[in-house]
Amino acid sequence: MLGIETSCDETAVAVVSSDRQVLAHVLHSQHEDHRPFGGVVPEIAARSHVERLDTMIGQAMAQAELDFGDLDGIAATAGPGLVGGVMVGLVEAKAIAAVHKLPLIAVNHLEGHALTARLTGEVTFPYLLLLVSGGHCQLLVVEEVGAYQKLGGTIDDAAGEAFDKTAKLLGLGFPGGPAVERAAADGRPDRFALPRPMTGRDDCEFSFSGLKTAVRQTLENLPAPDQQDIADLAASFQQAVADILVERTGRAAEIFRQGWPQGRHLVVAGGVAANTTLRDALDGLARASDLELVVPPARLCTDNGVMIAWAGIERLQRGLQDPLDVPARARWPLAA
Ligand code: KG4
Ligand code: ZN
Repeated sequence: MLGIETSCDETAVAVVSSDRQVLAHVLHSQHEDHRPFGGVVPEIAARSHVERLDTMIGQAMAQAELDFGDLDGIAATAGPGLVGGVMVGLVEAKAIAAVHKLPLIAVNHLEGHALTARLTGEVTFPYLLLLVSGGHCQLLVVEEVGAYQKLGGTIDDAAGEAFDKTAKLLGLGFPGGPAVERAAADGRPDRFALPRPMTGRDDCEFSFSGLKTAVRQTLENLPAPDQQDIADLAASFQQAVADILVERTGRAAEIFRQGWPQGRHLVVAGGVAANTTLRDALDGLARASDLELVVPPARLCTDNGVMIAWAGIERLQRGLQDPLDVPARARWPLAA
């Protein structure tokens, strides 16, 4: 299966086999193109996908030592995301599928993140999923491919968005998550008392915008913040995010254990899952909840083509494929 991902600021192509071998993995991050703007510029992203995608597909096929005729299908992200970019990848996939008479699989980007754990580990349905990325922060029960029950989500910012905005406030650059994590390594997480909004509630909702405001106010109250102040603030922020995610996921684990008693796994997916402090904190929670924590390797947590190819395999194995006129979608919830 060839997988194409172009929904945000990574152009990514991979070839994956149904026996879970990654035969090719090609990725270009556009971070340098967007850095001057402190965030992803949709038009620049779409143009960059156009410039590189053809070449990268050629590279991936060469790495895999395959011709298009050897493939069983073409999977591409069809949403949600920046729709200009999504169209670039999806149209390219449609062209290859049409010419080589191959099945087309239009993959929901979030489903790509959600199913990656089944490529890299022995994870059976149902499982509890914490999906934390730049655009999404949700707790879901994954019952089957295509069958998701949402337990809760953010009422304002996504967790990755909070990392990105905080990095900007602290002058740490873009993308924010890795920058905050690096700065926090030299900081004291208990130096500043930041809020943990929404914790303690019976539901599984999140909120991060108040935390971001608290970071801004704390910064403004420091007369002349030096590098150590910034490191301490980054560490305090990162700890607050980890605490919120762990507490909210703990609530979801209770609901999951009751409603899906046969479930065994807590899976974390999306770019923020690359964060080591968060992984360690969730490990403790999983043990306490009698669930096994599964976090794919960091390079498969941030956006990539492997997850799209794998989701394509999982869908095609269940007879799910899409017509050549399937649309690109800016919005596409996994579950209501
Ligand atoms: O899944 P992803 O690559 O793209 C989306 O689908 O959104 O996630 C990107 C997000 C960004 O907000 C980025 O700052 C965050 O994941 N991120 C991290 C780390 N690496 C990436 N957040 C915290 N710690 C990290 N190490
Ligand atoms: Zn993503």
